Amino acid sequence: MQTSPRRPPRPPRLALLTLWLAAATLQAAADPLAPAARWSAYTAGRAATPPMGWSSWNAFGTDIDEAKILGSAQRIVDTGLAARGYRYINIDDGWAARRQMPDGRLAIRAERFPSALQGGATSFRPFTDKLHAMGLKAGIYSDLGRNTCSQAYSGDETDLPKGSVLEREIGLYGHIDQDIALYFSDWGFDFIKVDGCGLRAFDAWNPKVRSGQYRALPPVLDLESVSRSDIPAVQAEFTQINAALKRNKPDGDFLLSLCIWGAADVRAWGKNYGNLSRTSDDIRPSWARLLSNFDSAARRELYAHPGSWNDPDMLFIGTADFDASHLVEAKSHFALWAMLNSPLMLGADLRTMPQPLMDIVGNADIIALNQDPAGNQATLAYDADDLQILVKQLASGQKAVALFNRGLAPIEVDLTAEQLKLRNDAPVTLTDLWSKADSTFTNETKLRVAPRETRIFRVQGTRALAQGIYLSEQPGSVNPAVDGVLRPQADPTIFRSSSGWSGTKGAGERPMYAGWGGARADSTPYGQTLRIAGAPYAAGIGILANSRLEVRNQGYRSLSTKVGVDDSAQDGAHDVTFLVYGDGKLLAKSKPLRRGQPAQALNADVAGVKLVELVARSAAGANEHLPVSWGNAALR
Ligand code: GLA
Repeated sequence: MQTSPRRPPRPPRLALLTLWLAAATLQAAADPLAPAARWSAYTAGRAATPPMGWSSWNAFGTDIDEAKILGSAQRIVDTGLAARGYRYINIDDGWAARRQMPDGRLAIRAERFPSALQGGATSFRPFTDKLHAMGLKAGIYSDLGRNTCSQAYSGDETDLPKGSVLEREIGLYGHIDQDIALYFSDWGFDFIKVDGCGLRAFDAWNPKVRSGQYRALPPVLDLESVSRSDIPAVQAEFTQINAALKRNKPDGDFLLSLCIWGAADVRAWGKNYGNLSRTSDDIRPSWARLLSNFDSAARRELYAHPGSWNDPDMLFIGTADFDASHLVEAKSHFALWAMLNSPLMLGADLRTMPQPLMDIVGNADIIALNQDPAGNQATLAYDADDLQILVKQLASGQKAVALFNRGLAPIEVDLTAEQLKLRNDAPVTLTDLWSKADSTFTNETKLRVAPRETRIFRVQGTRALAQGIYLSEQPGSVNPAVDGVLRPQADPTIFRSSSGWSGTKGAGERPMYAGWGGARADSTPYGQTLRIAGAPYAAGIGILANSRLEVRNQGYRSLSTKVGVDDSAQDGAHDVTFLVYGDGKLLAKSKPLRRGQPAQALNADVAGVKLVELVARSAAGANEHLPVSWGNAALR
């Protein structure tokens, strides 16, 4: 039936105004560059400093039992490591027997965890009680999908859950509220690692799915391709897990560990969803693998903060390239993880770990760098394929520096006061954190670094910036809430080691961790010197246009910076306007600037302001060709 077209009645004036206002509000809410006036990275849970502890995975895989785990826990207490901060004792994959039907309650492998057997049912409560009585915390493992990583990849069926297809679905998928309540309210755990294989490995072509062993779950995580990952779907699940944690741990005493190995561009957003987030695939006890895992976190200094840390995976000290015959490598592993503010999770059977290795992981001075309350991940002051210099600003005003020789030839390293952002006309004292020896230099010094060695020092000198602090010295207080990256690309700077899973069959490791073009301290997003109209800036933040940085202000009175489109931009046609906000109010604004135009000085009074926001807006839209620089950005 045809109906005659009818004009809608004209809305009265007031209604129009209301509509316009609503649209404007919606637009502001949808504008990611509008000032948020709040720190948006994750602060739930208990991770003011990087978590420390022990995990069963590297030493035992799924072949775990109560004696092995409690044995390492006891050593942690007896050797004084607990007193030095190692507190979390985490059961990784391999503990589950089945999901009971019809109630869906998870059952524990009681033959491996005898204390779990209570009548006919099982509970980890006696186990967590024991750890708590030892002054320790307890961690558990699960998966975002229906099944875990060992179910996906392990060839050894003996340690895997038994029963029907549904009984073997021990992951969180479809059971988030039930399982989180069980782990935290019922069993008393304090930590959960959430793996992602269930959302990655169970497609319809998986032989284990085809044979009817497991149900198919269309993958939403793909380590090799961001575009084949469904980022919102993965985030939605972490949101639900967080809601369940809040309900079951209202005191906030929990840690949420995200384990999706740098997939789905998590290196950009993990900081908003959990306390730690894996930046790469699994570490192996090989030097090459250490390089890959280190690289996956080393240039992500602005994506780690108190409450939300980069996680390049657990320590493998105690095995193969990091065993007692490889003390140089073992010391490097520890020093580097400490400088990156990585979680310090021991992964060896501590009942048999040789004393020299116990001494390495017990080095109180190096632990103190990792646990420094300012929470600044080290930045790369010097970056080459063979040698890197990492500098870390400490809460005390002192610094730490690590000289990392990645290769097989010794290197004579020039370390300069300038790299440390210290005055070159005043003495600089280095304290070697292994030997405790002091040495002093002015301007520059030469230090020999042996193959695979990391020399690590605490540094005392006179700051180049007499008052205040460069933003790039305190990445722990700078959050790239919007980093301008809208088309995530793999980071080509990450060392591509042989994975070791399947020998060297196949085509090798491709660049696969998205995040290329992310915000950087003292560097453009693509690793070049910050430069505006020819003028270089040794200090500053490099980021793409259409970005918003949140900066915590700890009592400083003014913010100053020189802004402009970076000379490395390929796009010379678009303007960028730089805006500084304080607790949501506009404090300073540049004129529109494009490539080649001299930097404009911006100064803002931030006295009493808690959160400063730095916004770079351009009509250019998502634009990986438009890096901008906040040169010499400093709070004073
Ligand atoms: C994945 C994780 C590892 C470990 C195993 C357990 O590979 O990345 O850390 O938890 O699963 O199966």
